[in-house]
Amino acid sequence: MKKQIVKLLRMAKVLRQSYARPGRQYESGTWWDENFYEDSISDSDTIGPGRNRYSTAYHYASVEALICKALFERLENGPVGDVIDIGSGAGHWLDFYTQLGASSLHGVEVSQRAYKALNERYANTPNMTLAHGTASDALAEVSGKVDLVNAIGVMFHIVSDDEWRETIQRMAGVLKPGGLLVVGGWFGSLDGLNAQVDKQGRINKRLRSASNWKRTLASSGFDEIEILRNRMRDGIADAQPENHLLVARRAR
Ligand SMILES: C[S@@+](CC[C@H](N)C(=O)[O-])C[C@H]1O[C@@H](n2cnc3c(N)ncnc32)[C@H](O)[C@@H]1O
Repeated sequence: MKKQIVKLLRMAKVLRQSYARPGRQYESGTWWDENFYEDSISDSDTIGPGRNRYSTAYHYASVEALICKALFERLENGPVGDVIDIGSGAGHWLDFYTQLGASSLHGVEVSQRAYKALNERYANTPNMTLAHGTASDALAEVSGKVDLVNAIGVMFHIVSDDEWRETIQRMAGVLKPGGLLVVGGWFGSLDGLNAQVDKQGRINKRLRSASNWKRTLASSGFDEIEILRNRMRDGIADAQPENHLLVARRAR
């Protein structure tokens, strides 16, 4: 009963914000540094200030399990190859794909603070490069093709629909034929929900529906699109609402 009330309240909040009139424009290039990140950045900090360390670890474990399932089913025991990670935050997914044996990693981060912290953390890490900028701009600079593009908890922060579509097209452009796209997010039935609005009225999270995702991916050159629901998310009273997984393959 309590869980259902929490769910209803969450949905009511999302719907109310979705119809909020935007105030100032959200600028990804400055918003994260001015409103979100301090100098040191942990996994909890990428979710929000003061997040509980255990529910944070639970969130990451539940998403990791989904990615492992997706890779197990698609790669069998083959190598994960070269990886681009979008919105690297504290570097959780750079570490994760390193542990899975990625041949090379390229992290992209729009926040200057997060980018600086990542540079310090991975200064002596071989086969890892980092780029500062929006996903769309950074992907346009990538030469060569990779085997996997990972974007967990970041695509809904691209609030401009044009930039969101362009980013997906550029993801397709950097993937080898048969390469995988792994996206963590929401993928519900309602489209264009503005799920987070800050005190200045800046929308900084916009959720696209599963059908919009599928349509946009198909028209950008992806197939074998699957959404894996995070069944663990309600197993804790501090769940992250947008932690399902979408996996697609760059058409061969
Ligand atoms: C919720 S955090 C998730 C961090 C990380 N992916 C993880 O799951 O631990 C979102 C991150 O994406 C970055 N970000 C937001 N918009 C971006 C964009 N357009 N391009 C690249 N990074 C972006 C933010 O600075 C932030 O570090």
